[in-house]
Amino acid sequence: MRVPSVLFVCLGNICRSPLAEGALRAAAEERGVDLFVDSAGTSDWHIGSEPDRRAQAIAARNCINISRQRARQVRPEDFLRFDHIVAMDGENLANLKAIAPAGATASLSLMLDHVPGREGQAVADPYFGDSAGFEATWRDVTLGAGALLEKLSARGQGEALLYAASDLSLPDHGRQD
Ligand code: 4NP
Repeated sequence: MRVPSVLFVCLGNICRSPLAEGALRAAAEERGVDLFVDSAGTSDWHIGSEPDRRAQAIAARNCINISRQRARQVRPEDFLRFDHIVAMDGENLANLKAIAPAGATASLSLMLDHVPGREGQAVADPYFGDSAGFEATWRDVTLGAGALLEKLSARGQGEALLYAASDLSLPDHGRQD
């Protein structure tokens, strides 16, 4: 069975989406769930950079090493390669919709669409703030990653994935169709 794939997207790919990538990969490994996880930015501002030091620090405090990640920009082929493209906020989701190529197959959603009661909300951009912002980012991305993993994995089994794109119930704004 093909391994389900998730691409997290923020603006710079140095703060929120690297943390989301690290959180989901760690949660999937812990549960024994096979997933392909990556992240990217809608901007080209930080291509090739390692995650922001503050993001690396909060991940490390939670026993997750994101230091080997390098920022990249979203590419047209991502819309075919990934089953799910998960944006951190509405602006990045709108940008993704604007650049999606014809025939795109990935389902688009917001990270917090997957968290009951948080649908439609943004994972706030912590870049210009202080370390408290990164604490909030970490809380949000771990909530989102946990909820996504629940949807993508065989419930509690840690075995073959019972996944289908249509199984993900998302609000209308998370759908491409
Ligand atoms: P991210 O945060 O989108 O979560 O990676 C940002 C990183 C860099 C900038 C803005 C947001 N910037 O303006 O360079």
